[in-house]
Amino acid sequence: MRILMVCLGNICRSPIAEGVLRHKIEQKGLNWTVDSAGTNSYHTGEAPHRFSQKVCLANGIDISCQRARTFTPADLQRYDKIYVFAEDVLRDLGRIAGRHSDLSRVEYFLNELTPGSNASVPDPWYGDETGYLPVYDLINRACDAIIEKYGK
Ligand code: 4NP
Repeated sequence: MRILMVCLGNICRSPIAEGVLRHKIEQKGLNWTVDSAGTNSYHTGEAPHRFSQKVCLANGIDISCQRARTFTPADLQRYDKIYVFAEDVLRDLGRIAGRHSDLSRVEYFLNELTPGSNASVPDPWYGDETGYLPVYDLINRACDAIIEKYGK
């Protein structure tokens, strides 16, 4: 499995998911590829947000070496699953990919936890540190569901 997590800035939500899922597949001994990207390039090259790093580290996961990058149309061919974290992310991704692109491997991340919900992961960027723990928990549970579903 090759999995790409996509949010807006690639500094708050998707870096947590990349770190958490990679940690889980290492524990399981699964030979998967996990990466993350953002639909905007404001933060390209930056490390994850300090509160995203902090909540991961509190759970034994070091994501300090990850760097933000921008989603590109070529990513559509490189991954088996491309998880979008919100409705606006899906819209932006579609725009970047272009009108004739194949979006069949694009799915809402939270649909692995609550199928068919098309729900968005709340963006902690606009709040204070207290927003990061619930987001971590939500991402952690969705990653468990992904492992459960595909990690046989
Ligand atoms: P993320 O959060 O999509 O979870 O990385 C954001 C980070 C930065 C911005 C928006 C969302 N921004 O507009 O700079």
